[in-house]
Amino acid sequence: MQSIKVKSPATLSNLCCGFDILGMALEIPFDIIELKWREEPGISITHLDDFNLPTDPEKNIAGVALQAMIDQLDYKHGFDIIIEKKIKPGSGIGSSAASAAGIVVAANHLFENRFTKNELVSFAMEGEVLASGSRHADNLAPCIYGGLVLIRDTATLDIIELKTPPLYITIVHPQIEIKTSYARKILPKEIPLKSAVVQWANVAGLVTGFLHSDYKLIGRSLQDIIVEPVRSKLIPGFDLVKKNCLDAGVLGGGISGSGPSLFMLSENEAVAKAAESEMKAVYSNLGIDFKTYVSTVSTNGVEVF
Ligand code: HSE
Repeated sequence: MQSIKVKSPATLSNLCCGFDILGMALEIPFDIIELKWREEPGISITHLDDFNLPTDPEKNIAGVALQAMIDQLDYKHGFDIIIEKKIKPGSGIGSSAASAAGIVVAANHLFENRFTKNELVSFAMEGEVLASGSRHADNLAPCIYGGLVLIRDTATLDIIELKTPPLYITIVHPQIEIKTSYARKILPKEIPLKSAVVQWANVAGLVTGFLHSDYKLIGRSLQDIIVEPVRSKLIPGFDLVKKNCLDAGVLGGGISGSGPSLFMLSENEAVAKAAESEMKAVYSNLGIDFKTYVSTVSTNGVEVF
């Protein structure tokens, strides 16, 4: 095989209480990444979008992730990468992870699947570090594994695939910029034990709710008393979106990743669409441009296109 095209999905990380340890792959939106083998060494990058991302492979997330894989191989040739990003960088729905995960899965196909999924996550992590300055796999792992995953330990990449009942995910992306590095810097370095108890009870409740298809328990557990109170101040309309969506019947929701996107989970499509209307109304009234998506869970993650 000399070339391959993959679609690499957006991902929802944290899922409220699961900061840095829970993530879910979405059906839409997704990037399209094409990788072509070439005789001459080196990596070239072409973008088919207007995001003005770097084409120098050492400064590009996909370039860095691919190079991390090549460094493990005795490979003397090169690659051309063609990327059409549909997930806006800085949106909070795993744009950098989609680039990093998509390229390593594509390259693994060309290298006849010689690497495990965990090895792919570790190569892709080099791209994620370039993007956010920190090692977290809660977007990368679901992008590569598909579905809902728990990263029990990031250092050893102890990644556990979980199940979810059918879910609809409504996303609104207000077009403001929040850098992940900044959204991490403002978080408390220490938390009171009392808060930790509430947070880990909610994580356990959320995981149990997913595994038992207990929608009510999922809803009760979608709470974040540690990160959300700090980050939500950066997102205009946050409280109103949340209140109106809960009134419309969603199970719950909050900040998607490090924001500014917000997400809501629903049991059925009608409620997910009602939440989308509420989101649209809030940001139209605030005069802030936005984009919305209603998606289901992607069970496969990155897929050959
Ligand atoms: N878990 C990360 C954060 C996701 O919330 O900072 C950002 O990509």
